[in-house]
Amino acid sequence: MTTTDLDALARRALALAPAEGRAIVGIAGSPGSGKTTLARGVAGRVEELAGPGTAVYLPMDGFHLANATLDALGRHDRKGAIDTFDGWGFVALLERVLAETGNPVYAPAFERTVDEPVAGSIPIPPGTRIVIAEGNYLLVDADPWARIRPLLAESWFVATPEEERMRRLVDRHTRHGRTPEAAAAWARDVDGANAVLIEASAARATLVVDGSGGSAGVSDLAAAHA
Ligand SMILES: Nc1ncnc2c1ncn2[C@@H]1O[C@H](COP(=O)(O)OP(=O)(O)O)[C@@H](O)[C@H]1O
Ligand SMILES: [Mg+2]
Repeated sequence: MTTTDLDALARRALALAPAEGRAIVGIAGSPGSGKTTLARGVAGRVEELAGPGTAVYLPMDGFHLANATLDALGRHDRKGAIDTFDGWGFVALLERVLAETGNPVYAPAFERTVDEPVAGSIPIPPGTRIVIAEGNYLLVDADPWARIRPLLAESWFVATPEEERMRRLVDRHTRHGRTPEAAAAWARDVDGANAVLIEASAARATLVVDGSGGSAGVSDLAAAHA
């Protein structure tokens, strides 16, 4: 992924916007593949090309269930697994993004400092033409997730070698306070189990993007959003 690639992907996204209304591009990929970095980068580049207010970055992460809900379900220890998200809520939000172009639509965001989703965090104003939605399970072929793909103008899958993803995940988990041993165990057991399901969904994507990095352009972005 180079800055040229990022520019090409932003132009590709922009070309999907209809004359009236808006288009959603969905970016899927395993934990640590680089989805968030890519989605923010593309949304930012679209705004440089088409003007401020034309693109919104929309993470599926805002649909994490609250910690109290995960406790009640006995799923807190597997936070990030497919059944620890409000998938139906995410589908409904994407439908609203396409249907409600005359009023603001507010999406929740995942707030890492409190480890909880926060409602009303991401405004999608009427002028938005491109929404870059991003998350683990966008291409999973089971309800409610299977309802997402028909809402997307295109879907991109970020493919990154497992070894590189593991390195990034251990780094992330240790930065967020886990011991190196606990970080490695979480990356292997929890993230690893989720990745099996996610990688199996790659064939449903319109385009596969190499997320292994190494270029100046996206490395800079990666550092800015780490
Ligand atoms: N193309 C890239 N090159 C190098 N590092 C990257 C690249 N994309 C992402 N990263 C780094 O990898 C880590 C995971 O990226 P992130 O975008 O958060 O992945 P995801 O959202 O898929 O879990 C971050 O530390 C980020 O800075
Ligand atoms: Mg992410």
